[in-house]
Amino acid sequence: MIIERTRWVTVQDTRLTRLTEGKLVRIIVRKQPLAFVRMQGALRAMLDQCPHQGNPLSGGWVEDCHVVCPFHRFHYDPITGKSKHGSTANVPVYAVEETADGVRVGFPYTSISVFGYKLW
Ligand code: FES
Repeated sequence: MIIERTRWVTVQDTRLTRLTEGKLVRIIVRKQPLAFVRMQGALRAMLDQCPHQGNPLSGGWVEDCHVVCPFHRFHYDPITGKSKHGSTANVPVYAVEETADGVRVGFPYTSISVFGYKLW
């Protein structure tokens, strides 16, 4: 049986707690560059790599509830990762939890279980 799981990683960076509405910040988490954005009060995380040509999204801005890539202005939904115009692939997004202990980012992974035994 294939099981989709989430590995939670705590991010301790004061820039996240100070991040204001509509602003972006780039933070490396588990060797991956993530673009964090606060939108409608909630913190969102997406891979800081535009699917169009691989440039960082964190230098962009927020417009109509989308993150705008500063290079060719493609728009991405930070909740779903979908491209607004459908002209490129979607950008990977990650679950984010804000707790009293800090910010946690959920990285999805797949595991296989056979007769209740987890193989990996
Ligand atoms: S690199 Fe982002 S839109 Fe082209």
